[in-house]
Amino acid sequence: MYSPFQLGLKYLRYFFRASNGKGHGIHSPFVFDMVINVLNDNTDYPAYNSIESVRKEMMRDKTVLTVEDFGAGSATGLTKQRTVKQIASSSLKKPKYARLLFRLVNYFHSKNILELGTSLGVTTAYLASADKEAKVVTMEGAKAIASVAESNFKALQLSNVECVIGNFDETLSLVVNRESSAFNFVFIDGNHRKQPTLNYFQQILEKSDESTVFVFDDIHWSKDMEEAWEEIKQHSSVTLTIDLFFIGLVFLRKQQKEKEHFVIRF
Ligand SMILES: C[S@@+](CC[C@H](N)C(=O)[O-])C[C@H]1O[C@@H](n2cnc3c(N)ncnc32)[C@H](O)[C@@H]1O
Repeated sequence: MYSPFQLGLKYLRYFFRASNGKGHGIHSPFVFDMVINVLNDNTDYPAYNSIESVRKEMMRDKTVLTVEDFGAGSATGLTKQRTVKQIASSSLKKPKYARLLFRLVNYFHSKNILELGTSLGVTTAYLASADKEAKVVTMEGAKAIASVAESNFKALQLSNVECVIGNFDETLSLVVNRESSAFNFVFIDGNHRKQPTLNYFQQILEKSDESTVFVFDDIHWSKDMEEAWEEIKQHSSVTLTIDLFFIGLVFLRKQQKEKEHFVIRF
């Protein structure tokens, strides 16, 4: 994991290198349209407020949870005590990025959604609220955390979410194998290490098609994750990527004749 100073320098480099986010200089009509209508969409959708009130409540919640440690990526057999408040303030995607997930699902009409890393269910709630007809399968290893997430889905009246509890290393193959159609949208936000990230990508590719949008979290968080991101960009199924620094978008569109990699300020 990079130090805050290293990450800050990397962010500055990204900021000055990236396309300015207004669409200038983006010659791909597909990407241009997404920048204008999704990245730059500042509409205050009603779902945002209800999800953010749940987040706010959790930021005050001092309930102690006994949590399996997935710190090193796979279960170590160790547990630790953490309050809901600590998890809500350190492990969840900030509203700006969670809202972008909501808009992407809306824009691409994604119906079959997979998330690795539920935590307290905030990003899951954004994914599931974008389209109540969509089905979201979300995966989490820590039982006590998943149980808070499930109460949040109830409170938000989201009945289109299924939470699969267990280590991804064991549960992902079951989820992929039972699926009869391709996932349209995949958010990978757990176990930020190179080899597991690449393994999950490879496994999920088996249930993907050219509509599938992958979103990888924390692609510049560590040298390991930057290497994983580079390998994903080079993968033969990948035709287009967009680096937004804190997340990376990956497309498998076949209309895209030449591979293209964009870095866009967000
Ligand atoms: C960063 S949090 C997810 C945050 C959530 N997407 C949000 O922003 O609202 C990552 C979660 O992945 C879980 N996790 C990490 N590695 C895992 C593994 N190998 N199997 C199952 N869960 C894992 C952790 O327990 C943690 O709750």
